[in-house]
Amino acid sequence: MPPTGRPAHELLAELRGLRAGDAPTRGGWTFAYVYDSGLPQLDELATAAYGVFATVNGLDPTTFPSVARLENDVVRAVSAVLGAPGAQGSFTSGGTESILLAVKTARDHARAVRGVTRPRLVLPSTAHPAFHKAAHYLGLETVVVPVDPVTFRAVAPAVAEAIDERTALVVASAPSYAHGVLDPVADIAAAAAQRGVLCHVDACIGGWFLPFLARAGRPVEPFGLSVPGVTSVSVDLHKYGYADKGASVVLYRDADLRRHQYFAHAGWPGYPVVNPTVQGTKSGGLLAQAWAVLHHLGTDGYTALARRVALAADELLPGLRATDGVRVLGEPAGSLVAFTVTGTDGAPDLSLVLHVADEMRERGWYLQPQLSYEDLPPNLHLTLTPATGDRVGALLADLAASVSAARASEPVTVDPALADLAAALDPDTLAPEEVAGILAFAGLGGEPGLPSRMAPVLALLDALPPRLKERMLTEFIGSLFSI
Ligand SMILES: Cc1ncc(COP(=O)(O)O)c(C=O)c1O
Repeated sequence: MPPTGRPAHELLAELRGLRAGDAPTRGGWTFAYVYDSGLPQLDELATAAYGVFATVNGLDPTTFPSVARLENDVVRAVSAVLGAPGAQGSFTSGGTESILLAVKTARDHARAVRGVTRPRLVLPSTAHPAFHKAAHYLGLETVVVPVDPVTFRAVAPAVAEAIDERTALVVASAPSYAHGVLDPVADIAAAAAQRGVLCHVDACIGGWFLPFLARAGRPVEPFGLSVPGVTSVSVDLHKYGYADKGASVVLYRDADLRRHQYFAHAGWPGYPVVNPTVQGTKSGGLLAQAWAVLHHLGTDGYTALARRVALAADELLPGLRATDGVRVLGEPAGSLVAFTVTGTDGAPDLSLVLHVADEMRERGWYLQPQLSYEDLPPNLHLTLTPATGDRVGALLADLAASVSAARASEPVTVDPALADLAAALDPDTLAPEEVAGILAFAGLGGEPGLPSRMAPVLALLDALPPRLKERMLTEFIGSLFSI
């Protein structure tokens, strides 16, 4: 703490300076982390709307009735697009919170209505890690069902097979984050309904894009609450809703189901507590900015933006397919694309994938490397937004150059002896210093910050068993937040 306060202008200058080292959040260079509508007035509107509500406490809508009004407006809008008669929901801080709440709701519903005391969560292997986090936090057992290795979609009969009397919730994605493909929602939901089990559709990333893509005239399979058997849906407004971070909605088929989400506590000497969502005290600012952006764009605005993304995909997908050594994975539902890079034998090549990521980074593009998982190949992931729309040609040209440069680079390899040694370690009993040793070997340690080329680090990570990977990631992130 500074002993005496510093002037506002100096602090703001320092904050602006810090941003210089970050990935750009506007301009369409950075995929996955940011969603750029390309409309500068939206940023101004969101900031101003946040400011109006920044000091409001969303904890108590009886003291701040404006909060209930704004939340009802937002949930009603989401319900109009993805709901069914009787739907009810909540505004949350993001996809992870919406999913956490949907899983809690299902757990408590299964206990209350079906007497399930050891609940299970059935999910395709491509379901977002937020479900594993929810299961971990809330004490559910996960049952992971492999997806089809060619289409990357969940296999409905296999999901149906995994449902049993302990299943509290079955999950489908619309679309999946990793490959951007739509699961067979109707079949999965029907299988769940047949067993009297709830079904959540994770539309965090697609829920505010696909309906507008349909309005723009493109074919989109239905996935919302109107699909028989779907009992809850999560939709992030801070992704294709183009609101600032901290905005999502979880929607249920009715208030009876949503009731299981709420937490109330009257057994203490303080004020009577009722929290619909995870947070207690929360600023009204995030809700206000999401409300403003949603109403500023309206159906026409979102449809126009979805059309721009669709046109960008129309240019990108054939361009990728025509790029030597690039293979698009599955049939992307719209705005998310995963592609791998193949070696001379035509098989996905981890070293090339990782080198291409580094080469693209050097050219200013932030693609997201995704490592191999069971029989699914390593790949690069990108999320199209309107801001990239005008620059697909430049992206493809840089990609072709990056693939050539990757082919000319020394392949990244992991010493098999090291991989074997690492595989034999017990991640749960490793001391922090031992993990630090492996991290240093991987090139993460000593110097602050990340190495300029991540390929060697990610190649080692790819070779490690999942639990050891998780342990290393935990220690690594801990080291970044070390004071
Ligand atoms: C399909 C899907 N579900 C859940 C999430 C988690 O959302 P958040 O990062 O907002 O917590 C994401 C994030 O990308 C996602 O794409």
